[in-house]
Order: sequence, then structure tokens, then C-alpha cells
Amino acid sequence: MTGVVRVAALGDLHCSKTSQGAFQSLFAKVAESADVLLIAGDLTDYGLPEEAHIVARELSTLRMPVVAVLGNHDFESARGDEVRQIITDAGIVVLDGDAYETHGIGIAGIKGFGGGFGQRALGPWGETIIKQFVREAVDEALKLEAALARLRTKHLIALLHYSPIQQTVDGEPPEIYPFLGSSRLEEPINRYPVSLVLHGHAHRGQLQGATTGGVPVYNVSMPLLTRSFADRPPFRIFEMPAGETTVEFPATFPTMTHVDPLRDATPQPVRGERRSAERRG
Ligand SMILES: [Fe+2]
Ligand SMILES: [Fe+2]
Repeated sequence: MTGVVRVAALGDLHCSKTSQGAFQSLFAKVAESADVLLIAGDLTDYGLPEEAHIVARELSTLRMPVVAVLGNHDFESARGDEVRQIITDAGIVVLDGDAYETHGIGIAGIKGFGGGFGQRALGPWGETIIKQFVREAVDEALKLEAALARLRTKHLIALLHYSPIQQTVDGEPPEIYPFLGSSRLEEPINRYPVSLVLHGHAHRGQLQGATTGGVPVYNVSMPLLTRSFADRPPFRIFEMPAGETTVEFPATFPTMTHVDPLRDATPQPVRGERRSAERRG
């Protein structure tokens, strides 16, 4: 494939039991504007199967690949497996340390976890439960690394719910930074030729930042996009060169323009193994 792939991205739908029909116009706009939709977690509000059925039904109207990671809210009712299954059954690819390829673009997805950023990040020291907390973020980072390692596409996108950098959570109360992301998630991103990082979760964060390796990071949380772009629907479009085009890394191509009519697309699994895939953010 040659040309441009239009990647739509959003996060934090927070679909509730009363959200029936609430996303129809949003997804209609996505259908007009994009070739693939990436969702950065918190598809549901309380992680209930009823909510998952509603969001799955609404998303199933999209005739394009839809790739998602789950967020912390999707686990709130301890029914994350059911939520994942319902969404998967609707044809949505749910990544959890998995890799997926479409239009020549590789997508590695994890939920991620917290722990904080930089020198203030929580370390694995002291009580067992603190070590377990840190271990969770380390495990998520390892899953992301494994997913990135499986991809052979020229263009890689890392899709997360939690933020890998502090910059895109700035604006949130500093007291909750440790619950919004972890620098440990940034490490594999800097080690691979990732073009673009997308995350949600920080509803009051900043739109854009970059890893220490210069990889652009976008917070695509819908509440943030709604506040930031009052004149347009709450999703972003990133135009990326399609498969065969060579680009240099880190690329700087994400834009906010809408072009070309919608193309139908059939999801293609990546070769080899593949997926089987307080209120904070
Ligand atoms: Fe969240
Ligand atoms: Fe959220």
C-alpha cells in the first residue's frame, strides 16, 4: 500500500448504561475521516458488561479496523475478562501486550500502570505491597517491549491507557501524578523506532509531549480533547505514510488535517503469533 493512512485516536469514552446512541455522531465523524481507529482505554465507566455491550454495539458500525487497549475503569467491577470478550466479539482488536498490523502500521498496546515519573518514581523498596505495585508497571513495560519486538513494520505506534511521560499529565493535581502513569513505560518506547505514542487517562493533562528519546506522545483523552477543541469532535487524526514508504525516526508527521474519503479495510493479523489481543482518569 502507498499513500497516507489516517489514524483516528481517542480515549476515555467512559460508556455508561445510559450511553446508548451517545457516540453515534462521533463515530460517524470518525468514519468520514479515518482509515483506522485507536482507542486508548476506559471504554466503559464502571467496567460492567452492560456498558461493554453498548460501546461494542456502537463501535461495530465502523467499517474500519478498531484497535483498543483497556483502561483502569474497564476493570472497576472485576469483570475485565468479560468486558474484553464482549468488545472482542464485536470485532474490535483488544491489545494487552500484543501486536497488530494494519495498513502497514504496527500497533503495540498495553494498559500500562502507575508509579510516577522520573526521579520521583516509586521504587521497589520496603513493604511487599509496594514492590508489587512497582512490579505491575515493570511487567506492563515488559509486555510493551515484547509487543514492539514482534512488529516488523516500518511504522510503530504504542497505544497505552496510562501515560509514559509526565509532560502529558501536567495540569492534573500533582498529588495524583503517580496514579496517572509511569516512566517505566517510556523505556521500551525509546528503545524501538516508535513513531507515535497515544494514551488517555489524564483527563486534565496536556495534549502533547515527547519522550526523552524524542518520540511524540499525545494524550487523546476525550474530556481533554473536548475542552481543547470546542469546534470539532473529540478525536485526533494522525496522517502516517502507508507501509512501503520509508521514513526517518523519530518521525514528525502527525497532523490534524482531514483528507480523502473513507476506505474500507480488513484487519490483517501480524505474521506469526497474534492476539488471541476515587475516580482518576
Ligand atoms: Fe483511566
Ligand atoms: Fe478515563
